[in-house]
Amino acid sequence: MNHTPHRRILILDFGSQFTQLIARRIREQHVYCEIHPPTVDAAWVRGFSPAGIVLSGGPASVLAPGSPTLDPEILELGVPVLGICYGLQLLVKLLGGVVEKAEDREYGRAILKLERAEGLFADLPGGLERTVWMSHGDRVLRLPPGFGVVATSENSPFAAIVHERRPLYGIQFHPEVAHTEGGSAILRNFVLRIAGCTGDWTMEVFVEEAVERIRRQVGSGRVVAGQSGGVDSTVASALVHRAVGDQLTCIFVDHGLLRQGERQEVEAAFRDALGIPLVTVDASERFLRALSGVVDPERKRRIIGHLFIEVFEEEARKQGDAQFLVQGTLYPDVIESVSVRGPSATIKSHHNVGGLPERMKLSLVEPLRELFKDEVRAAGRSLGLPESVIGRHPFPGPGLAIRILGEVTRERLAVLRRADAILIEELRRAGLYDAIWQAFAVFLPLQSVGVMGDERTYENAIALRCVDAVDGMTADWSRVPHELLAAISGRITNEVKGVNRVVYDVSSKPPATIEWE
Ligand code: XMP
Repeated sequence: MNHTPHRRILILDFGSQFTQLIARRIREQHVYCEIHPPTVDAAWVRGFSPAGIVLSGGPASVLAPGSPTLDPEILELGVPVLGICYGLQLLVKLLGGVVEKAEDREYGRAILKLERAEGLFADLPGGLERTVWMSHGDRVLRLPPGFGVVATSENSPFAAIVHERRPLYGIQFHPEVAHTEGGSAILRNFVLRIAGCTGDWTMEVFVEEAVERIRRQVGSGRVVAGQSGGVDSTVASALVHRAVGDQLTCIFVDHGLLRQGERQEVEAAFRDALGIPLVTVDASERFLRALSGVVDPERKRRIIGHLFIEVFEEEARKQGDAQFLVQGTLYPDVIESVSVRGPSATIKSHHNVGGLPERMKLSLVEPLRELFKDEVRAAGRSLGLPESVIGRHPFPGPGLAIRILGEVTRERLAVLRRADAILIEELRRAGLYDAIWQAFAVFLPLQSVGVMGDERTYENAIALRCVDAVDGMTADWSRVPHELLAAISGRITNEVKGVNRVVYDVSSKPPATIEWE
């Protein structure tokens, strides 16, 4: 089970919204870690052989019947354990202390007072007091035998605790959030000093090991990859290409729903910058025909998804018998499927190529399964990918079809492409493109009255959507300067025939979503 030679950390997820942040903070120390559900037993943990274990926070109360718990034998393995928030309370409960319901929830900033600047708190910048971020309803009433207090806060006499002889640590606050001063240093102390990790997991090392793993998996087999030009599929293919060279065929299906110039950019990035051959299939006619008359967003997605599979399969068969398919699955997808919270409700069906591996009897090669998005970008840089690919905004598989409300037609696509290109061009010119998570135009087939010269017009509207987000799960509308919006709107109404009105979308997600369909 241990596929990496590095000393690594195991994070047991009790359902906190911050668990992925813990993982990212630890990986920023160049220490590899994985998130698993707390239902694993001691034998499994021994097999995983972690250098240290972090118990995450969670929304439950350890006092509630049926709340998530831990195989107590895990605490007997001699592996250092850090309990955070719920994790601390669980340690206390399992080891014979007492947790009670607090009168007041402690939520938000608190001042942490350290008794001693050692262990987790060794060599922290600043003095013995710092701001930390708390979020808990229960609190410790009595410590288990052998534990002592290292830090207090006004509402938590046991804000940080440690066992006198065993490597067991608990903190009531969240070191992983940005509001906790020195939080990263606390996690660094745990993983480097206490758990003895060496911080040797860099992206260069990841790339080398991934290449080795791919070679072992693929042997002399043939591999196909579907290319979208997005950063995930490009990095995944670049890794596989480095591993097995021309055993890989990359196929780019042009479904006719791409942005202006996108096909040329993708082809240039592959052939020129990366030196990877790319087979482009122009299937735009087929997609447009299949979408004719279709207005329902989920039907559009299904039609595009099925047709994509068909076209890809036809092309892949022409390339000889492949046994493997590259997929740019990322770590959040992997964790989501094993999370204690269960997979989140499907609001929109995002997985456009589901079913392909089974149909073509292909085994998956998923070289990015262990990475977060920012790590994929770092891996891309170390593979020499151009910034234009690495910094690209996410683009949905169904493309412009879900950015045209209602029926997709050739004329509407042409209008949207022009407006969208103006938006992106102006954002780049203003130096704002990289600061925004996703920016695009949406075609609204709503005729409204306008005036141009002396003529009355009755034409379509374009909505501009620019959002700030971290992972796309939540988002806020970007505060793009009014002058820039004025310039974009002016250019669109002047240069794009068929548009006489431009609106800026000021909705956050939730309750809206990023895409309009
Ligand atoms: P929403 O609109 O759900 O979008 O807030 C969240 C992120 O997902 C992208 N998105 C899709 N990606 N196929 C994709 O590959 C889809 O059908 C799809 N729908 C939305 C969206 O662009 C944003 O980044």
